[in-house]
Amino acid sequence: MAIQQTFLMVKPDGVERQLVGDIVDRFERRGFVLKEAKLMTISEDLAKNHYAEHAERPFFGELVEFITSGPVFAMVWEGENVIALSRLMMGATNPAESAPGTIRGDYATTVAENIIHGSDSLASAEREIGLFFGK
Ligand code: PPS
Repeated sequence: MAIQQTFLMVKPDGVERQLVGDIVDRFERRGFVLKEAKLMTISEDLAKNHYAEHAERPFFGELVEFITSGPVFAMVWEGENVIALSRLMMGATNPAESAPGTIRGDYATTVAENIIHGSDSLASAEREIGLFFGK
């Protein structure tokens, strides 16, 4: 398995609840390396572009409204198999199904406010890193 990079983002609920430090700590302790990070407020255009694949879903408006509602903490992480392993550490998208010990399993109860986003494939990681960090 080659060294990969992925895009992870603490969502507005995670920033508001002051979980950034805990989340960074989890990935560092796992052995991944933080390559880029910034606290930022997402514009509506960037939100719609980032979540474009969900544009036809009924919750799209709610998703864009939520992700632009306050600052997010955007990050690029690097390491062996980091795309799949970071998704495991995040837990299932719906916190009703995420295991205790995962980020969502420890901190979230609703799919609309589930603390963290992570790229789900190499193609998504490249696209999302480009969108947020211009690479
Ligand atoms: S996945 O992993 O793409 O299959 O997950 P999915 O269930 O399709 O959800 C995609 C993203 O949409 C968010 N989501 C919602 N936001 C607001 N309201 C509702 N009802 C809702 N359902 C899903 C979900 O948190 C996913 O966000 P990301 O940032 O991709 O994790």
